[in-house]
Amino acid sequence: MSVIILGIESSCDDTSASVLKDGIIYSNIIANQDVHMNYGGVVPELASRAHQQNIIPVVHQAMEKAGVTADEIDAVAFTRGPGLLGSLMVGTSFAKGFAMSKNIPLIEVNHLQAHILAHFIDDLKNTYDHPGFPFLALLVSGGNSQIIVVKDHLDMEVIGETIDDAAGEAFDKCAKVMGLPYPGGPLIDKNAKQGNPLAFEFSRPRIQGLNYSFSGLKTSFLYFIRDKVKENPNFVQENMNDLCASLQYTIVDILMNKVKRAAKETGINQVAIAGGVSANSGLQNALHEAAEKHKWKVFVPQLGYSLDNAAMIAITGYFKYLRNEFVGQDTAPFARMTIK
Ligand code: KG4
Repeated sequence: MSVIILGIESSCDDTSASVLKDGIIYSNIIANQDVHMNYGGVVPELASRAHQQNIIPVVHQAMEKAGVTADEIDAVAFTRGPGLLGSLMVGTSFAKGFAMSKNIPLIEVNHLQAHILAHFIDDLKNTYDHPGFPFLALLVSGGNSQIIVVKDHLDMEVIGETIDDAAGEAFDKCAKVMGLPYPGGPLIDKNAKQGNPLAFEFSRPRIQGLNYSFSGLKTSFLYFIRDKVKENPNFVQENMNDLCASLQYTIVDILMNKVKRAAKETGINQVAIAGGVSANSGLQNALHEAAEKHKWKVFVPQLGYSLDNAAMIAITGYFKYLRNEFVGQDTAPFARMTIK
C-alpha cells in the first residue's frame, strides 16, 4: 500500500514542510526567520507571526517539489512540542485544518524523537546507512542535551540530560558575550577552525552520572571575558579564533566524556548524534576519533536533516502511521514535552 505524508515543523524559528512517499523524502522546504538576528535570540511573538506568513507558501512549495497535490496526501504529521507555544500553534492549527478539510488522519510528533529518527531518512538523492537497535543518541540542540538509549523507532529511554542549560544555549550565549550575532553556534564553529583549542582553559562541571551542566561554563566564560576586556578592550577581537576554538573544545569534551561513559555502562557501540549542535565540526571529529578508538559505529545526520526540519517530522509520522497512531482534532500543542 502506498502512503504519502505531509510533515509540518514550526516549533521555534524555522517554518518547514516536507512530503514523504513510502518512506522516502521527496521534499523538505525550510524558511528561516532572519528577523531575530538583531535581537540576540528568538523573539517568540515575531516567530509566530513569521510562521503565519510562511506556512502556506512553504507547504505549497513542498507539495510542488514532490509533485503531489493536496488531494493525494494520506496523513498530516505535525510537531506537537516541545517548543515555543505561539510557534507550535501555527503548525498545529494548519495541520488540523488540512486534515479536517481532506478528511485524513492527524499524527502528533515529539520534536525530540523526530531529531533522532532523522537517522532513518532516505531521500530521492540517497539512501543512507541507518543505525540498528539498540543505539545511543546524543541529542544536542538549542534546548536539549540528552543521552538516549534508542530501543526501537518509537521506544526511547533518556539516561542522561542537562540539569540546566543546553549545549546549543552555551554556544549561543557565549557567542553573544563575544559580540557575535544569533545563532552563535555555527560562527563559533567557523572561527574555531582557525584557532588553538588549548589557548584558554574554561571550567568544567562535576556532575554525577550521565547528566550534563553548562551554566557554570557560561558564567565562567562571561567573567573571564569581562576581566580580560578590562585589561585590554580589544581582547575579544584579537583572540576571537582562539576563544572560539577553546570554548568549542571544552563543550565537545564535556559532551563526549559522558557519551563514552554511557557506551561503557550500556555496552552499546553504535552512537548517533542529533539536533542542531550535531552540525558542529569539532563534535563530529571527536565522535569519529572515539569511533576509531572504541570500535564504535557512528552516525552523523545530513546537514539538511540535523537542524529543525519537517523531513524528520514526516519520517516519524510515517512510523506512527504504520502503527495507526493517530490523534483527534482536540489535540493541543505542548511547550514542554519529553521523550517517553
Ligand atoms: O535543533 P536546532 O536547529 O533547534 C532547536 O534548538 O531545536 O538547534 C539549534 C542550535 C542553536 O543553538 C545553534 O547555535 C546550534 O544548534 N548550532 C550549532 C551549529 N549549528 C547549529 N552549534 C555549534 N556548531 C554548529 N555548527
